[in-house]
Amino acid sequence: MEKEDILAWLRTTDENELIKLWQMADQVRQQNVGQEVHLRGLIEISNICVRKCGYCGLNIENTAIGRYRMTEDEIVECAHEAASFGYGTVVMQAGEDHGIATEWMTGLIQRIKRETSLAVTLSLGERTDEEYQTWFAAGADRYLLRFETSNRTLYDRIHPPLAGQPSDRIALLRRLKQIGYETGSGVMIGIPGQTYDDLANDILMFRELDLDMIGVGPYIPHQATFLGNPELTTYADKTVQVPNSEEMTYKTIALSRLVCPRANIPSTTALATVNTESGRELGLSRGANIVMPNVTPRKYRALYEIYPSKACIDETASDCRSCMSRRILSIGRTIGTGRGDSPNRAKHRE
Ligand code: 5AD
Ligand code: FES
Repeated sequence: MEKEDILAWLRTTDENELIKLWQMADQVRQQNVGQEVHLRGLIEISNICVRKCGYCGLNIENTAIGRYRMTEDEIVECAHEAASFGYGTVVMQAGEDHGIATEWMTGLIQRIKRETSLAVTLSLGERTDEEYQTWFAAGADRYLLRFETSNRTLYDRIHPPLAGQPSDRIALLRRLKQIGYETGSGVMIGIPGQTYDDLANDILMFRELDLDMIGVGPYIPHQATFLGNPELTTYADKTVQVPNSEEMTYKTIALSRLVCPRANIPSTTALATVNTESGRELGLSRGANIVMPNVTPRKYRALYEIYPSKACIDETASDCRSCMSRRILSIGRTIGTGRGDSPNRAKHRE
């Protein structure tokens, strides 16, 4: 698949053509990663963040939200709950919280690996090379770090660097792979100022990075951010600006599956937010093979407001578990067992 093909798919509005795209993605998913849907327990361990991202509600300048950091015991309890639900992985996600000290995190990873047989995925943002190495040595298996957009100018606009520290997530992703992590990334769809050409380049970048995991979702404006007023930054020309639509999200999921056939691809919470009724199922039917049920304690959920009206805010871990199982079984798929390691990585190990 070349860039022109990707662009043609991103621009098409022909319903019959799109049905073909969904079918191709579904077949390639079935042939390469099978019919199992793996469940990853998501623990949002801290909403504290030092960064000023123009899209994210957790940015340091948003003083309207209460901040929290879970204790080690709280997190380990969530990990045990995830294991008791049969999930094979926990994903520990946080803002860029420098209060999450290297040693503290190391101890936490070691404890989860000792007390459970879970795969451990980290999603803690841009940290030092030493931290990435130390946490891998402590037993962390996977790292998620979205590059958000491959357009460098747009990236710098929406993701201001910390003073004196240029931010190059693409370089970090290459490094994470080299250290030995199963590596995941992704982008937002419909960022104000994102063109069709940019999104096509993003999809090609997934292939270039040979990602093991690819997570994408629609950009959802948050009032407490500087992109929150999209009129200021969106291209008025609708033939240039990518819409942050549900359909564009399915197209991106489907095309990601076609360019990275063996990657693990989640049907994300952002998609469930724009279509509560059937977003998850449609994502799974158009290329995705993963869901990430939230296992964060209910009292913290509303505080992890990356974007408004996020799905699963009022639910408990157990609610999300039954919701996900029901949705997976309703489309004739099965619930994955085991850790659900990336078949893409297995290919490299052969
Ligand atoms: N809308 C949609 N997704 C968002 N993210 C952050 N802010 C938003 C938003 N307003 C995504 C980013 C980040 C991930 C954790 O959530 O891609 O990497
Ligand atoms: Fe949380 Fe459906 S997965 S409510």
